[in-house]
Amino acid sequence: METRRDFIKKSVVVCAALSLPLPWAANAQTVQREFKTRDPKRALVVSYSQSGFSARYGKLIACLLKDQGLTVEWADMRRFDPKRLPDYDLILVGSPVFYYDIPENVADWLSSAPKLTGIPVAAFVSFGGPEGNQHNALCHALHLLAEKEAVPVGMEAFRSIPAYPASWDSANQRSGEHLPDEATYNRVREFAKQIQERVRQGQSLAYSSEIALREIVRMLPLVWLNKKAVGKHTVDGAKCIGCRTCVKMCPVDAIHPERQFVDHDKCIACFGCLNNCPADAVVVEYRGNRLYGFPEYLKRRKITILEPPEFQHCKL
Ligand SMILES: Cc1cc2nc3c(=O)[nH]c(=O)nc-3n(C[C@H](O)[C@H](O)[C@H](O)COP(=O)(O)O)c2cc1C
Ligand code: SF4
Ligand code: SF4
Repeated sequence: METRRDFIKKSVVVCAALSLPLPWAANAQTVQREFKTRDPKRALVVSYSQSGFSARYGKLIACLLKDQGLTVEWADMRRFDPKRLPDYDLILVGSPVFYYDIPENVADWLSSAPKLTGIPVAAFVSFGGPEGNQHNALCHALHLLAEKEAVPVGMEAFRSIPAYPASWDSANQRSGEHLPDEATYNRVREFAKQIQERVRQGQSLAYSSEIALREIVRMLPLVWLNKKAVGKHTVDGAKCIGCRTCVKMCPVDAIHPERQFVDHDKCIACFGCLNNCPADAVVVEYRGNRLYGFPEYLKRRKITILEPPEFQHCKL
């Protein structure tokens, strides 16, 4: 139970955070470093994805690079050891924007990478709405990679259906109903082309965060605040079919369907368990209302997500 003292403590932390300078925001960050190679042979496209969009964009990039003759690995961040990153000569990292930033498990994963000296890197995010702070989330990801001595060569944000279940009925949600479309995939194609071009020319990318209210909001304990709105988060043993999809999707090992238990301290409120359960067995109550997940959302609105044609021939 959250006490008044805990609340005051958190408020003090927030105020202190608001007064801190942003390490990557002051000026445009340009990394002047020699490229490991300007003719990459082995590329990695690695993403964290909870409703499949970042993974889908990553897969398309991987297919496009493969078509250009590169050896490409397309991987799920949750099952990819960051120690392997130096084995590649081009790395693309994908993530959703959650709570105005890259999710904390993505930031932790990037921070745990070894030195990536001279390796060209690019970041892409999928996001749900135009005011979602995606630019700064991208800068954050690039900054963490640049700290490992990698050379940023690109960043791009691709819009998707906002998979935030608490707002399924908002106007923002409806506006994104049929995304991604052909225009979205064209941007992905353009991005993949630009990355290769920049690497060939040995051109690093300057990036700088936008100081805006949204960036300040990013510093609030949004996950914690959201968890306060979740009254109940558990597993319905009568409905659960024991597929363990929720366990696979959870980035912090917080859900235990066999014990019908969610570790609320560990949980980062990403809704991945709810958004992927095929049996409607993950129970989440948000401000007293039972939420439903992404498969059910698509079913209710009769939405089929458009897949890029490249997937028909691409084997990764
Ligand atoms: C918990 C949660 C928080 C989110 N927060 C944001 C946000 O701050 N800004 C934004 O643009 N989209 C936000 N979204 C929408 C996601 O970024 C969007 O649905 C994204 O495409 C999901 O990517 P994925 O399918 O790879 O997980 C949020 C979604 C969830 C589930
Ligand atoms: S995803 Fe749903 S059905 Fe599968 S183990 Fe988890 S709670 Fe049970
Ligand atoms: S238990 Fe929490 S952290 Fe794990 S998938 Fe579910 S919402 Fe995300």
